[in-house]
Amino acid sequence: MEGSEGQNFRVRKLEMSDKSKGFIQLLQQLTVCDSVSDKEFADRFGEISSLGDDHVICVVEDDRSGKIVATGSVFIEKKFIRNCGKVGHIEDIVVDADARGMQLGKKIISFLTDHARSVGCYKVILDCSNENRAFYEKCGFKQKEIQMVKYFT
Ligand SMILES: CC(C)(COP(=O)(O)OP(=O)(O)OC[C@H]1O[C@@H](n2cnc3c(N)ncnc32)[C@H](O)[C@@H]1OP(=O)(O)O)[C@@H](O)C(=O)NCCC(=O)NCCS
Repeated sequence: MEGSEGQNFRVRKLEMSDKSKGFIQLLQQLTVCDSVSDKEFADRFGEISSLGDDHVICVVEDDRSGKIVATGSVFIEKKFIRNCGKVGHIEDIVVDADARGMQLGKKIISFLTDHARSVGCYKVILDCSNENRAFYEKCGFKQKEIQMVKYFT
């Protein structure tokens, strides 16, 4: 896809080198994300990678700046119900404040949704704020029920 100033935006899976391309700083635009050491990053990257297709984090890199400008993840939950069905859980969607409105969020959601479908999920779900509801509707999602949460920290 061509950006408004000719940038080339492609969705790909997270790589180890993305830590030095602003990946953590991008997540900080979403929520609390303290600085992550190189070792912490490598350890967590290894854990996630070992899950293969069951946990995918994708990113968009701005080829011109070399910065990561969008990311999102999908986790595949294996169930007994629905004939031992699988559900994709989409999490941690964020587009850099300077890159919003260029369809990057939509591209990320589409990549993660396609992944969930391709590994056999019967549905894909996510939680969002009211402000982001219209965005997800544009991505083909519809509201269903409510979210409950209990935080431990
Ligand atoms: C929500 C977010 C991911 C959207 O990313 P984005 O790249 O700006 O969105 P896109 O450009 O792909 O938008 C796709 C469509 O949704 C619309 N849209 C995007 N955000 C919207 C919003 N908050 N309200 C209404 N419509 C919205 C766009 O206008 C566009 O419509 P179109 O297809 O008719 O042109 C981005 O604003 C963001 O990172 N926000 C901060 C972090 C956050 O809240 N993440 C979500 C956690 S659940």
